Amino acid sequence: MALLPILRYPDPRLKKTAAPIATVDDGIRTLARDMAETMYEAPGIGLAATQVDVHKQLVVIDISETKDQLLVMINARILARDGVQEGEEGCLSVPGIYDRVQRAERVTVQYMNLDGQEKTLEAEGLLAVCIQHELDHLKGKVFVDYLSQLKQTRIKNKLMKQARITA
Ligand code: NI
Repeated sequence: MALLPILRYPDPRLKKTAAPIATVDDGIRTLARDMAETMYEAPGIGLAATQVDVHKQLVVIDISETKDQLLVMINARILARDGVQEGEEGCLSVPGIYDRVQRAERVTVQYMNLDGQEKTLEAEGLLAVCIQHELDHLKGKVFVDYLSQLKQTRIKNKLMKQARITA
């Protein structure tokens, strides 16, 4: 097990598009384990491979309070969206920044689990938000991209200043 370094916005590698995973091998299983450990340690409720600079379609999610409901989604795609919800989001790649984003209230998502089995999940509320947020990462999108240009510039400047201080 290993903790993986998380890319910080506005790192250009966060804009890369992730490729589908052909087979679930030991490398993928190790990646999923390391990503889960990194997410729990942060702590966060979701992490996409893109955020640890691996450009493969893998995300880990756990919105439970007990941190024992790990969801690993490989090659996930959203089949259906329904309704609208708006809530405050944050991201491990955008530390200390929270803002409101509109998302679908419910999603139906199809994915492969770590055993290579095809699964379909209907999610709503926070889980639906988390799935949409993480799958955005795999397309090179962060939640900040939904905010106004002015806010995006402010956030970039703030995080770049912090990076210089901590470097
Ligand atoms: Ni994120």
